[in-house]
Amino acid sequence: MLNREHMPVSSQDEGEQQLYIEDLKNRIYGKGLKYHIVTYGCQMNVHDSEKLAGMLSEIGYTETGRQQDADLILFNTCCVRENAELRVYGNVGALKSYKQANPNRIIGICGCMMQQSEVADYIRQTFPFVDLIFGTHNLHRFPQLLLQALDSNHTVVEILDSEGAVVEHVPTKRTQGVSAWVTIMYGCNNFCSYCIVPHVRGRERSRRPADILAEIQKLAEAGYKEITLLGQNVNSYGKDMDEQYLFHNLLRDINEIEGIQRIRFMTSHPKDLSDDLIRAMAECKKVCKHLHLPVQAGSDRILHAMNRKYSSKYYLDLVEKVRKAMPDIALSTDIIVGFPGENEEDFEATLRIAKKVRYDSAFTFLYSPRKGTPAAKRRDQVPAEQKKQRLARLNELINGICMEKNQEHLGKIKEVLVEGPSKNRKDVLTGRTDTNKIVNFKGSPELIGSLIMVRITEAHSWSLEGEIVKND
Ligand code: 5AD
Ligand code: SF4
Repeated sequence: MLNREHMPVSSQDEGEQQLYIEDLKNRIYGKGLKYHIVTYGCQMNVHDSEKLAGMLSEIGYTETGRQQDADLILFNTCCVRENAELRVYGNVGALKSYKQANPNRIIGICGCMMQQSEVADYIRQTFPFVDLIFGTHNLHRFPQLLLQALDSNHTVVEILDSEGAVVEHVPTKRTQGVSAWVTIMYGCNNFCSYCIVPHVRGRERSRRPADILAEIQKLAEAGYKEITLLGQNVNSYGKDMDEQYLFHNLLRDINEIEGIQRIRFMTSHPKDLSDDLIRAMAECKKVCKHLHLPVQAGSDRILHAMNRKYSSKYYLDLVEKVRKAMPDIALSTDIIVGFPGENEEDFEATLRIAKKVRYDSAFTFLYSPRKGTPAAKRRDQVPAEQKKQRLARLNELINGICMEKNQEHLGKIKEVLVEGPSKNRKDVLTGRTDTNKIVNFKGSPELIGSLIMVRITEAHSWSLEGEIVKND
């Protein structure tokens, strides 16, 4: 286990990067340069892109939504499943003509995919016009690497094998107005047998409580109302530190920060969801009554082969315990279909557990073999067609359950945090309930950022429609 005593926060690196930012600032001053970042994958990646955008803004670049207008195009990649990787290859290939049209344009690729050395080599060989390649462990060194790329005729590549210290104070340009993401820990120690994340994100490293609390305090002062705490397994927050300060302690302290109205977090590994945490969730008013609890599969044989370290009975007992403490809590999950060796009986166990839990929402995935993981080496891979059929059956079941659960809300009045205008509908606002249900309703934009009462008038599988309840 990593010990924080041996991992000092790298303040030297922080200061050094500030110098490169200053250098770049002078260099690009008055040129009106623009950047465009394309992000693949999970919230952790989206938040990393907010840090890349923060560094670029501080340097003096402005954002553009149009790739063709950008002087710097950055792809922040994901490798959790193969389809995300294939999209990156296709989209990077398409940049060749942009580079030809403007050879001064910088093209960079970073993120999880680049942490796999064979992938980074492939990118370098196949797309020689890429200027900069870097991984996840050195994201904070982006200013220095960008400076090198601006001065070099060759691809600048820097991929670190080990994670190093947690780096604080990276400038961040948050994209959301009401709700902000805060990473509380990096990496994962679980090594689920299908998953590439521990291989590319390294071992668990928790940020110091004081740094997290100071960041959230600042976000509250800046007007953010909702905080989502991020980590591959937030339930093991603090276990790598010497202090006796765990995730439930952190939740209780954040609950005291004035101005923050809602606290969310993800993701929780069922094996680490402690009684202390359930108690803290139930007792802290601001902690939303929603829990994302990936089950992955319903068959004990498959759960064992996945190295999940729990049985279906353990999971169901845990759900019961959580619901006893918080009867109205919403549960969501991740499920993988077609793990190697999964037979019809195993798959039916997955359908069964989904029916028993009755999730409010679920992300369902086709198993995707990832090079370097134990499951990818297995010979008993499930044929693609069978995987697809099972996924369709699972989705049909899940959609039905989610619809029924949403219909239970009809006619009820719910408190909604208004997030912003609806993406595609004029005069319609969108927000979320405490239980993470999306609610769309007519209202004026001044309401954005406030908590209002909405009567639910219509239910879909993935969202609700409503009308504002007048206060008179
Ligand atoms: N294939 C399919 N799904 C995967 N996930 C992780 N690795 C794989 C894989 N190799 C899913 C898990 C995890 C979610 C983020 O992605 O369900 O919880
Ligand atoms: Fe991957 Fe398992 Fe870690 Fe989640 S807990 S990131 S699925 S290894």
